[in-house]
Amino acid sequence: PVQQTIAVIKPDALGTKDEIIEKVHDAGFKIAARKETTLSREIAEEFYSDHKDKDYYNDLVEHMSSGPTMFMVLSREDAVDGWRSLIGPTDPEKAKEESPDSLRALYGGDILKNAVHGSSNVDQAKTTIQKIFGDLKFTPEGLLI
Ligand code: CMP
Repeated sequence: PVQQTIAVIKPDALGTKDEIIEKVHDAGFKIAARKETTLSREIAEEFYSDHKDKDYYNDLVEHMSSGPTMFMVLSREDAVDGWRSLIGPTDPEKAKEESPDSLRALYGGDILKNAVHGSSNVDQAKTTIQKIFGDLKFTPEGLLI
């Protein structure tokens, strides 16, 4: 069945959003909804609250609130895992070795400014869609109702 996931183009990669969106389409995803916005510090903190004990948390929040970010709801068969595999490993250096065609290999700068983000699982995707876009409903093909 068609699933939804959240895809994020981070501030460091917003300049290459057109190329990234072309690859999103090439991989068979439909963009059901999109929103370009600069996150406040508070929203960035909430978005990454699972990481608040990490030593990189403050730098991550700073980066994510430093400029515009593109949020997209992507629909496709197996969208959650499919998007994670298209973006590649967290660290662009590792991505270049293991998955040279992945978005982080192509557009990531370093492990913090790694171009893109994706939901880890279906539950997290649902929660994040609700938080960023509110109550969305989808057709069986994954388009907005
Ligand atoms: P993302 O997939 O958005 O999820 C958490 C983010 O934290 C990750 O991408 C990176 O931007 C950042 N991150 C994860 N690990 C590290 C690390 N070791 N050092 C710096 N930033 C990191």
